[in-house]
Formats: sequence, structure tokens, C-alpha cells
Amino acid sequence: MKKTADFLLLNWLDFLVVLLCFFLFELPHLPNSFVLVNGYIAMLVLWFVVVKPRINQKPFVLHRSYYVLFYLTVLCGILLSRLLTRQFGSYSAPFFIPITLIALLYNKELAVAASIYFALFFSTVSGFNSLGFTLMLTTCLIAAIAGSKIEKRMQVAKSAFFVGVTSIVFYILHIKMQGLKADYLQMLIAFFMPFVSSVVCIGLLPFIEYASMIYSNIDLIELGNLNNPLLKTLSLRAPGTYYHSSMVANLAEAAAQRIGANAILARTAAYFHDVGKAKRPYFYTENIFQENPHDELSPKLSHLVIQDHVKAGLEMARRNRLPLLVQDVIPQHHGTRVQKYFYHKSKELGEELNENEFRYPGPKPQFKEAGIIMLADAVEAAARSLKNPSAGRVQVMVEEIISGIYNERELDESGLTLKDLEAIAEEFTKVLLNIFKNRIEYPREDIKKVISLAQNSFDQQNKKTDKQESDQQNDGQGHRK
Ligand SMILES: [Fe+2]
Ligand SMILES: [Fe+2]
Repeated sequence: MKKTADFLLLNWLDFLVVLLCFFLFELPHLPNSFVLVNGYIAMLVLWFVVVKPRINQKPFVLHRSYYVLFYLTVLCGILLSRLLTRQFGSYSAPFFIPITLIALLYNKELAVAASIYFALFFSTVSGFNSLGFTLMLTTCLIAAIAGSKIEKRMQVAKSAFFVGVTSIVFYILHIKMQGLKADYLQMLIAFFMPFVSSVVCIGLLPFIEYASMIYSNIDLIELGNLNNPLLKTLSLRAPGTYYHSSMVANLAEAAAQRIGANAILARTAAYFHDVGKAKRPYFYTENIFQENPHDELSPKLSHLVIQDHVKAGLEMARRNRLPLLVQDVIPQHHGTRVQKYFYHKSKELGEELNENEFRYPGPKPQFKEAGIIMLADAVEAAARSLKNPSAGRVQVMVEEIISGIYNERELDESGLTLKDLEAIAEEFTKVLLNIFKNRIEYPREDIKKVISLAQNSFDQQNKKTDKQESDQQNDGQGHRK
């Protein structure tokens, strides 16, 4: 009994959404009680078997907006389809809109699950024959599969074309099987409705994304453009950080592609992961060309100043309404790791501070792309100081960093498996070796060389090299920022 009560309490919104589907379908009348009771039970079972498992996982559990937008899309899809089919017949049902939106904003699996739900729901309540059900299921599945691969707006129209052609084929089959006379208006509706729906989809998308902060791959690609004001500011105020972010983006994209995660999300989120450094760029190693301001600060204070880039980045991201998952990456790329460089410096100075005092606040990476960015960030920081990199040295460095972060248990909540980590290490090594093959030294390194020559002191240069080597060792153990 308690289990049933808990189940109802946890899933009351799902019961309500399925019930609302019936009421919206029958508006302005009340649903027929036989259809309501039997249909409701059947649709509830279908919902909990097919749809619920796909919305009971990340990123739904991270942000309530994912649930709200999904439920609203389903309900609006049912209402709109009902209104149009009443006016223009069953071939005018604009399923293309909700299914394409779900495929664009969520994923293929959820769009396929929603397709099955829509097709069975309409067949149940409208008493469709098997041909009608097959038409709905086929067109919805085409929209779901094509929609999940869309990266450009024009591809939405291409998907609409396939759905239109399928509808025409089914319409011809329908009239042939029933021995009916062809209704050319219905044929036109069947073919053009997906195109009209695709225009509505493209028009609605920016508003939905702005309101929900859930972005499709189309607009994630646009966000990662240098025209974005946040990235422009970063590139002007902190060019070193911008270069670092681009390198992290290359590494993260390749790794995400390899393990089947969202490579576009990984790339875009990597561009913004350190955007908070634009606030005080001169405190971060990649932007320090001459005097190091940390020489004047205590290690604890240095840690607090550097840790602030997470808070500042989150504020900027929220103010600019960046996608929720991109916002998540900003604190998660450091997780709850210890800033080892300043912790060790503090120990060297004889300060008795606990390592937790040098820990980032977290949370740990909550999804695969965030975990990949944490790894890419640490690997890029270490690779920056790798001199004369050979394939073997790069591989060892990458593997040491990944296993170090894994052993710190920072990836426990990311969903990355050991097999994923092996593939990520291989991909990182491949990308780094490609970069090193055509490597152009960091401007910072060049400037350091110039400064060293100007000092014209062999002894001083030697001292500097010693310091750099000790920095490299620290960098190799952890991300020093
Ligand atoms: Fe960072
Ligand atoms: Fe970074």
C-alpha cells in the first residue's frame, strides 16, 4: 500500500498529463466514459513502459524545465492536432511539430517513444484502422529519426519533405484499399502540412530555447560562434583563456564523438567553461605574460581569487541565458577537485591548512559531456607545458591525468564508463599529437623567451627553467588554475 502511495506521489504529474490528453482531445465536450476509463488505463501503461523510462534520467532529473517543456509539448501537440483534424481531416494532424521539437531539443529515443505514444493515442481515441495507425507511426518515426540528426535549419524542411511524401503514399494506399475517389484537397493537405509544420517549428524554436534554456544542436552551434558577445569579450580580455577554451573544445568534441555523446554540446560548453576568467584575466596562468600577481598573495587568497572564475562565469551565463547544460559545465569542470598548486605552495610555506580549504565547491560532473570537459581541461593544461612531446610521452601524460581524476572519484556521477575513459584517452592523444605536429608555440611562451633574452643572463634563465619544470610537475598532477 505504501509503495503504491509513493508511486502515485512521485508520478502524479504523469497521471495528470495522460488524463489531460483525453480532455484536450475531446474539447469542448467531456470524453466518453468508456473511452476515458479503458483508454486512460491503456495509455497510462504505455506511458510508463515507453515514455517514462526516457524522462526518468539525466538531464530531466537535473532541471525541472526539461519535464515542463516535454509535458507542454505533448499536450500542445495533442490539442493542435485535434483542432486541425476536426477542420481538415485526419491527414492534417501536425504531429511533425511536437515530434520534431522533441527530437531537436531532447534526443532520438524520447522522440521515438513520443511517436509511439501519439500514434497509439490517436488510433485509440479516433478508432483508426491499422492503415491509419501505420501512417501515423511511420510519419512520426521519420520525423523523430530525421529530427534528431538536424544541425541546420534547412534540414527541418528536408525532414518535412520525407514526411509529406510518406503521407501521400499512405493516402493513395488508403483510397485504393477502400475503393474511394481521390480527394485532391486531402492529398495537398497530406503533402503540405509537414512543410507548414516545419515553418512553425523553425519559428517557434528560438522562443522555446530562450524561455526554457534548453537548446537544440542548431542553436548550440550558433552559440559557439565568435560573434557571441561573451566569447568576444573573452577573446579580447583574456586571449590566453580563449585559446585554451578552443583547445579544450577540440579535445572534448573529438572525445564526445568517439563515445557517442553529444559532440556539439561538448564543443559549445567547452567554449564557455572558463568564461568567468574574463572578469580578472590577469590572475590566470594562460594570461600572465610578465609579473605574476600571485607572488604578492597568500596561497589561500590566490585560491579564492582563482576559484571566483566559476562564480563569475555562472553569473555571466545566467545573465546571458546560456543553455542549462552549458551553465552546468561551468562549476562541474572543476568538480570538487583540490587546487594542488596553491595547496602545495601553502604547505611549503609551512601553513597548516587542510586540503579541503583548496577545494572547488562542485558539483562533480553530472553528465558525460561535463566529465569529458573536466578531463580535456586538465589534459590541455598539462599538455601546454610538455616540451619535446613524443607519442609515448603524450600518451602517458593523458593516461596519468585521466586515471588521476578517476581515482579522485570526480567522474562517479558523470555516467562515463571505464571503456569510455579508454576511448577518451586514445582520442585525446590523437588530437594532441596532431596539434603538436603543427604546433605554433603559445604567444605567452614566445614572450617569455623574449623577456629571458632581454635579461641576458644565463644564470637567471636557468633559474627560470627550474621553476617552470617544477610548475610542469604540478600541472601534470592536476589542473592548475
Ligand atoms: Fe576553470
Ligand atoms: Fe579551463
